[in-house]
Amino acid sequence: MTDIQTIRSALEDVRFDAERRLGGASDLDALGEVERSILGKRSVLAGLGASLKDLDPSERAEAGRAIQQARQALVELVGELRRDLEKRDAERRLVEERLDLTEISCAARRLALHASSRSAGHLHLVTQTRDELEDTFISMGFDVVEGPEVETDWYNFEALNMPPDHPARGMWDTLYLRLGAPETVLLRTHTSPVQVRLMSKGELPIYSVMPGRCYRRDTPDARHLPVFHQIEGLVVDEGITFGDMAGVIEVFTEAFFGKGMHSRLRPSFFPFTEPSAEFEVTCPICAGVGCRTCSGSGWIELGGCGMVDPNVFVATGIDPERYSGFAFGFGIDRLAQVRTSLPDMRALLDNDVRFVSQF
Ligand code: PHE
Repeated sequence: MTDIQTIRSALEDVRFDAERRLGGASDLDALGEVERSILGKRSVLAGLGASLKDLDPSERAEAGRAIQQARQALVELVGELRRDLEKRDAERRLVEERLDLTEISCAARRLALHASSRSAGHLHLVTQTRDELEDTFISMGFDVVEGPEVETDWYNFEALNMPPDHPARGMWDTLYLRLGAPETVLLRTHTSPVQVRLMSKGELPIYSVMPGRCYRRDTPDARHLPVFHQIEGLVVDEGITFGDMAGVIEVFTEAFFGKGMHSRLRPSFFPFTEPSAEFEVTCPICAGVGCRTCSGSGWIELGGCGMVDPNVFVATGIDPERYSGFAFGFGIDRLAQVRTSLPDMRALLDNDVRFVSQF
């Protein structure tokens, strides 16, 4: 036989014991276990409920409410603890599985930088090639000289051993300006007039390269642009030989294109050099094996060269008995075309971002 007082004090013990054990449950599994043992079928609480039948009927309802209230309080406490533990669990998972935000923001910064450098653009392929050529020649001891793009007939032709009506002028389709007497002022057809300007200054010796824009009355096609770029080399000193020229071209070829790349000369004609040659270099695409770019020959024709004609020395006031020299010249756009296997040179002028951003 029991009474309501016994039940009330038992409920006190249950609450005390339950709170202590619930407080020790450090994770959801442990909480579940404590919950089962304090609220489950075999719990002290369940036993107290079962003992109600032994109670005096006048006390049963009150004792029943007391047990029910105690159970309700414990259920609420368990619920509260469960929510706490679940929250802590979620936070722990967040920490464990979080994305490294520092990494992300670095990547984002890189992307942003990339985007901004894209929109700022970069040097054009032809300019890059020109810069590389200048660097190569500077490393070989040359200096860089520039001249005007609008020239007189004298610098572009006459001083270069091409008097008026000389048939060799036909090698260059010329754009004339309506300035002064007809056909006296023109857009330079090559960089060779800069040689004339340099030699006319009379500061010897000369070891210079002269890059720049040139113009010809050509219809643009896959291999020709009416506006293009050349780089010219000029050496004038005492005792300069054809062998020096071949050597300089060979050294340049290896320095610019890389080890194992060579040059060779083939007889040619230019009015301002004698003897004259065309120079070829190992095909940079197939390294001499033979490919479509070099039509299977392993060689690419790059430009012209030769020993400065004594008539040019005379025209510019240099003593041909004392000095000798050589000159060479080639197209920068053409070189860029060959090196990048560009099928059509006109792409260099289209300014299509999809094209220019590749270089
Ligand atoms: N100026 C010549 C050309 O445009 C190239 C060249 C330069 C040839 C120097 C010989 C010496 O074709």
